[in-house]
Amino acid sequence: MAFTKRSLGRNGPIVSAIGLGCMSMSEFYGHSDRGTSLRTIAAALEAGVTLFDTGDFYGVGHNELLLAEALQGKRDKAFIQVKYGALRSPDGSFIGIDARPAAAKNALSYSLQRLGTDHVDLYMTGRDPNVPIEDTIGAMGELVRQGYIRYLGLTNVDTETIKRAHAVHPITALQLEYGLISRDIEHSVLPLCRELGIGVTAYGVLSRGLLTGSKGNGSGDVRSTYYPRFHKENLSRNEVLAVALARVASSEGITAAQAAISWVLSQGEDIIPLVGARTEERLREALTSPVQLSADALSAIEAAVPQDAVHGERFMVR
Ligand SMILES: NC(=O)c1ccc[n+]([C@@H]2O[C@H](COP(=O)([O-])OP(=O)(O)OC[C@H]3O[C@@H](n4cnc5c(N)ncnc54)[C@H](OP(=O)(O)O)[C@@H]3O)[C@@H](O)[C@H]2O)c1
Repeated sequence: MAFTKRSLGRNGPIVSAIGLGCMSMSEFYGHSDRGTSLRTIAAALEAGVTLFDTGDFYGVGHNELLLAEALQGKRDKAFIQVKYGALRSPDGSFIGIDARPAAAKNALSYSLQRLGTDHVDLYMTGRDPNVPIEDTIGAMGELVRQGYIRYLGLTNVDTETIKRAHAVHPITALQLEYGLISRDIEHSVLPLCRELGIGVTAYGVLSRGLLTGSKGNGSGDVRSTYYPRFHKENLSRNEVLAVALARVASSEGITAAQAAISWVLSQGEDIIPLVGARTEERLREALTSPVQLSADALSAIEAAVPQDAVHGERFMVR
């Protein structure tokens, strides 16, 4: 399955049809084991996964160091995409975003050191409300011309930002939440990406584990704090969706995770699911998701998990 490739954006680089999201190997979803994480990344490479997603703020540098260790001697087999801009305090709290031109250059310098590489394949950031997106993308474009970055991306931005950014330098991919119960991008962002030939790397394909019955209550697991869908008042109502998905998936001979991943894979060749697998077992399960499900199976999956049946917002509204 992972051998199946997709183009990241129209005429973009060719990468594996499923990417490995490394975030939870460093923090956010409870305890992760270093040795297990390294083995999972190695197994992903071995299986033909080429797309690896990280962020300089995932574990405040920890995630990039982990990825560098796992990719030692195999850098050329990996397409590394890195997010920057989110600011952290030593206590781990998020304290803003900085996407000023100087911040982009500074952040990249540190990422290259931590990753032990001379270039990042795709570099992306979110919207800094204090900086015109033209300035941010202008600086990132300069880094492309200097050979430190191959392609540019953005994450969690609106259509206006995409248009303005793309006018300064081609945007290859957007990283957005997309899955059975997170379909907001279908209204305007996804159509715009398709018009402009921008690819999508989708996170939250399993709704951060909500669709697979992962409860998010362990120590160091922020889901029950940050994400309303995991809040006590919503969780038990949302768990019904995981049960319904597991039931319809089993009638297709697959697991709930595979049904959710296959559904995203089926929404278009321009969408590449990022899966947050941190064990070899989860990875194998994800990579053996059917690329093609019948129209009847896809309808049954959608009917089991109607998008409007979910309780709670995706994020805390600040
Ligand atoms: N741009 C952004 O704003 C943003 C935000 C979030 C994430 N991301 C990226 O997207 C990646 C994916 O993270 P996500 O939050 O979207 O998580 P996800 O893939 O939607 O969900 C991960 C959760 O699903 C569970 N799960 C069950 N079966 C699985 C399987 N076969 N494979 C993988 N996970 C399985 C995991 O279990 P366990 O708990 O047992 O491991 C974990 O709890 C991240 O690593 C990160 O790179 C980006």
